[in-house]
Amino acid sequence: MNWYSNAIFYELYLRAYADGNGDGHGDFAGLRQKLDYLQWLGVDCIWLLPYYPSPLRDDGYDIASFFGINPTFGFLEDFRITVEEIHRRGMRIIADMVVNHTSDQHPWFIEARRSKDSATRDYYVWSPNDDLYREARIIFLDTETSNWAYDEHTGEYYWHRFYRSQPDLNYDNPKVRAAMLEIVQFWMDMGLDGFRVDAVPYLFEREGTNCENLPETHGFLRELRQVVDERYPGAVLLGEANQWPQDLIPYFGDDDEFHMCFHFPVMPRLYMALARQDRSSVVDILEQTPPIPPNAQWATFLRNHDELTLEMVTEEDRQFMWEYYAPDPKQRLNLGIRRRLAPLMENDQRKIELMHSMLFTLPGVPVLYYGDEIGMGDNVELFDRNGVRTPMQWTPGENAGFSQTHPSNLYAPVINDPIYGYKTVNVLNQQAARDSLLHRVRQMISTRKSLPILAQGRLEWLDELPPEALCFWRTTVGERFLALHNLSDEPFDLYLPPGYTYTDTFNPEADPIDHTITLPAYGYRWLMAE
Ligand code: BGC
Repeated sequence: MNWYSNAIFYELYLRAYADGNGDGHGDFAGLRQKLDYLQWLGVDCIWLLPYYPSPLRDDGYDIASFFGINPTFGFLEDFRITVEEIHRRGMRIIADMVVNHTSDQHPWFIEARRSKDSATRDYYVWSPNDDLYREARIIFLDTETSNWAYDEHTGEYYWHRFYRSQPDLNYDNPKVRAAMLEIVQFWMDMGLDGFRVDAVPYLFEREGTNCENLPETHGFLRELRQVVDERYPGAVLLGEANQWPQDLIPYFGDDDEFHMCFHFPVMPRLYMALARQDRSSVVDILEQTPPIPPNAQWATFLRNHDELTLEMVTEEDRQFMWEYYAPDPKQRLNLGIRRRLAPLMENDQRKIELMHSMLFTLPGVPVLYYGDEIGMGDNVELFDRNGVRTPMQWTPGENAGFSQTHPSNLYAPVINDPIYGYKTVNVLNQQAARDSLLHRVRQMISTRKSLPILAQGRLEWLDELPPEALCFWRTTVGERFLALHNLSDEPFDLYLPPGYTYTDTFNPEADPIDHTITLPAYGYRWLMAE
């Protein structure tokens, strides 16, 4: 089995995690101090948000130099030592690679906008007018009104799928493609175990299309995979393509594009199922998901550093999700919800655990988002998605133990409200309390890793059950695992499929369970059947 199939990924934003040099911003030195924690939690692979030099107008997804480290986070040497320390603990590390665009502060773009015949003009996508590619949607709907921005100096428009400060690279230019492959090799040679490849559907533009998922884009991704497979066997490429299942599948290619892709459509449906106390949305989307190549894996998640995207749901379901989970317009952003997991679950530990249980037992490699393991809150007063990127809450001490600086120097205020504030919600307190969310998540992680059937098993639904029961088998030749979830706020009795004896995987010493089980409100059970 591939290492990633049974791995637990953990996404973290360096700036938010731990401040090692006391300037109020997290950094590599801070992260190194927290590696023991990540190892204790059971993390196998850290995914780092972009750490490259950047004006941080999109938190580093606007790269100004591909070959360095943002000085706020440390130096190349810091990076190297951190990678070594991670490997020494038996963990791995992947990083974001932003392939679609650069910052407008990147020397290529500074040069490109100098004149129409500058050496790097053709690294970007220019047009004398803004008429082309009208069918391409605008992604940052709340900020941008067009995918074209006018450049006064040269009197032409440049193409950008995200902020106007993030001009899209021109993948029709072979120099751009070659440069990107060189960048990837530079970081792999520095010790990375792979990449989360950002915003991949948008690499090429073609008139008369929506400029997403084009065959040319897949062509480049196959080239990327080939370089990685040939030179760095065992590395993983994880694709970020926010698409419907039928458009996602081609990103695995014939086991020759991404090793892993995020399953975006299943994520909001986990929330929908819970809100409606009805499993059907989750069952439907997984039934519509075609099989993937033998070495491929889905990456699944509950939350990440962006808004909880509602792009891959119907208009009706989006309205439902907004009304249910984001009644205050401040909680909405673009086509999504800018809140964290715990507040979405009204801080009800039963529901937070239930969501994790679905994440850990349904097909896919779980990707956790820093802070969700302790139930951190959010701050909708902060701009854009910053409210879900606040400092990690380590202790009840000053600055949540994140930094020793004066609070006014922090890159963002720590969450400090009576429910989610750091005095209550922090790692230290939860490590000390045996029934805390942190301990439960840790237990689920270690149990999941002891059950390879959860990485490889086929999914079979138990469908003769009331709608609030999300119950399924995972099966391999000779083994059967049964996951039971109660999506409702009332307990119910369940008759287990006959012909087996069942062992509770969280409590294998307990007496085997026979045929009836009572699932409490929002309860879940993980059973091996024999
Ligand atoms: C990342 C975002 C980022 C965007 C542009 C994404 O999909 O997840 O955080 O703003 O790409 O790079």
